Amino acid sequence: MLREQTDNRIPVLSVENLTISLKDGTPVTNSISFDIMPGEILGLVGESGCGKSVTALSLMGLLADSMEVTEGSAVFTPAAGRIATRGDGLGSIDLFSVTPKQRSRVNGSRIAMIYQEPMSALNPLQKIGKQVGEVLKLHSDLDDAAIREKVLSMLERVDLKDPERVYGSYPHQLSGGQRQRICIAMAAIAEPALLVADEPTTALDVMTQEEILSLIRRLNRKNGTAVLFISHDLSVIEKICSQVMIMYAGSAVEYGSTGDILRMPAHPYTIGLLRSIPGPDKKGSALDCIPGRVPSVHDPKEPCPFAPRCFMAKPVCTMRRPPRADFEEDHHVYCHFANERQRSRWNSP
Ligand SMILES: Nc1ncnc2c1ncn2[C@@H]1O[C@H](COP(=O)(O)OP(=O)(O)OP(=O)(O)O)[C@@H](O)[C@H]1O
Ligand SMILES: [Mg+2]
Repeated sequence: MLREQTDNRIPVLSVENLTISLKDGTPVTNSISFDIMPGEILGLVGESGCGKSVTALSLMGLLADSMEVTEGSAVFTPAAGRIATRGDGLGSIDLFSVTPKQRSRVNGSRIAMIYQEPMSALNPLQKIGKQVGEVLKLHSDLDDAAIREKVLSMLERVDLKDPERVYGSYPHQLSGGQRQRICIAMAAIAEPALLVADEPTTALDVMTQEEILSLIRRLNRKNGTAVLFISHDLSVIEKICSQVMIMYAGSAVEYGSTGDILRMPAHPYTIGLLRSIPGPDKKGSALDCIPGRVPSVHDPKEPCPFAPRCFMAKPVCTMRRPPRADFEEDHHVYCHFANERQRSRWNSP
């Protein structure tokens, strides 16, 4: 067996200038760029409709027929964090220009996705054991008995009690939390290099949410799996992501290390999101919410899309696209007024 060897210099996924548009040319995302390093969990945050899911779906080649990637690349290097152990030599590929054959080799086994609504990802007519083992049947040389063994041990690893019973159950016989564990087992069983988790805990109660988060963290640590973790909730992101990208109306507005951004946010939208988080210290007081709402893809946008809702907006925001401001090595902000004074104001309101 080859020893795993870490190479932190090559990202598992490097997305550059990703623009997704409707077929009539209307942009849905606007030149998004981010890297995910081996073993890293990158959070993608923003209000409903800002383009988180379409970004994830584009990576999987699963955009709706009404949409397409009109610009950009997504270079995927499955062996970035380790020497390839499977001998099938998949080097770096651009996920936006793969052939159908390459796509079927990548999806499920190299990149796996966990969906927001677990029921929609499961086949209601097929028993759990068969569904979880499917990816191994397609992508490995294991025989049926070995697959069964591996599936049972995976069900145990995602903390499902009585794996034998779950193995023979149909999805409707399980709870929402159990079904999400099944989806995680299905995603993790082939040890993908990248896991895309689209709001995996939103449909679950708080206790189950915590357990699912700790499960994803465990898989990430044990296998060094890179994770793209989507959420609209910064308090969830804080628990699990080392890096975070904040999106607004299809554009990235702030990107960098989670600790730095949450301690010293520089973009007024991030500040608004942080002020909206309910917390014990805010009990009894009205939440500071961001006035207005996210524009639809069809609404005309200012050069800074957040300008109409921004407490700091000035005429320049409606005239020029904000340049990128850089703080620490890996903290980038797209705002005309992102500066140290703005950041320290968040710290001492
Ligand atoms: N199939 C589709 N056809 C046309 N427009 C779509 C389609 N799917 C999504 N959109 C639009 O694209 C934009 C981005 O949608 P997306 O689903 O990525 O948002 P999101 O950030 O994931 O939101 P949520 O937090 O609600 O899941 C939205 O304005 C949405 O209305
Ligand atoms: Mg979504």
